[in-house]
Amino acid sequence: MRVNGKSCRAVCWHGESESVEWIEQRLLPHQFKQVSSRKPEDVAIAIESMQVRGAPSIGATAAYGLALAWQEDEQGFFTHWLPRFRATRPTAINLFHACDTMQNCAEESPTAAQMIERAQAYADAEVAANQRMGQTMADLLAVGERRILTHCNAGWLAAVDWGTATSGIYQLAKAGESPFVWVDETRPRLQGARLTAWELNQEGIDCRIQADGAAAWMMAQGKVDAIVVGADRIAANGDVANKIGTYALSLAAKEHGVPMYVAAPSSTFDTACLTGKDIPIEQRDDDEICRMDGMNEAGELHDVRIAAAGVRANNPAFDVTPSANLTGIVSENGLWSV
Ligand code: MRU
Repeated sequence: MRVNGKSCRAVCWHGESESVEWIEQRLLPHQFKQVSSRKPEDVAIAIESMQVRGAPSIGATAAYGLALAWQEDEQGFFTHWLPRFRATRPTAINLFHACDTMQNCAEESPTAAQMIERAQAYADAEVAANQRMGQTMADLLAVGERRILTHCNAGWLAAVDWGTATSGIYQLAKAGESPFVWVDETRPRLQGARLTAWELNQEGIDCRIQADGAAAWMMAQGKVDAIVVGADRIAANGDVANKIGTYALSLAAKEHGVPMYVAAPSSTFDTACLTGKDIPIEQRDDDEICRMDGMNEAGELHDVRIAAAGVRANNPAFDVTPSANLTGIVSENGLWSV
């Protein structure tokens, strides 16, 4: 998708410098900065520290990082680098899917160039899947459902390109429609306010950021036609792990008869997890709740404490929405009416 009118991916291979290049998402929407590295450890840190985040982007970044690892340290690939990348984040299954893909490729004793090609093919396949699922999603949303609510960032920043939840919205806009998006700010890291609203703005799509607590109230007033979210892992029975707050949205959607869809590529499905109870939920640091950062008018980034000193926080990063609360799950293979 576009940044200041120029096409861009959340993460890509930079052929000239033979490095991985990613957008430093922690600086958005204040600064747009691309970072590149040839060191696999930098790439692992980028995932761990959420410079790159969102399930499909995490997977593609790990694939590129493992290609660099093969180039730099073939000997340590299986013993050090695969476990290193697998340990960067626990919930998004795309990470493990990407690690398995690169492991299978490495077992064939490829050249460094072949490993890079494999990572590139992995990222391209994710983008193609997003584009295909967006066509299905756009058809569903075109049936009078244009005031769309989304949670977190399941946009192109989270998914290499197009996005998962946003792909259908972008495709509707490209077809000349005028979708409108309610963007949940998504505490605590504010991926909705900081990333999704920025993306939509770059594409000229009308949106409003709202407090997470406003979502149910907008549904009660009949102002939400459909909800579309992404996923970090989908269990065999259709239960969906996604950003904390998604489960609460699903309860309100059910109460108010608002259709709720999950859009995710097949790399997000985990048939080894029979139900959502088997999905590991990442527990994150207190500071994400107790502190806040932003930019002042002088253009300086500031980090401040918002909770009383010494107060502890509870910070589960994801929750699980039972499939029964969903209208459907859309992947590149079509609509699964759960
Ligand atoms: O913690 P994050 O920012 O990596 O969480 C991201 C989400 O929960 C997204 O909604 C999810 O990955 C779907 S992405 C296309």
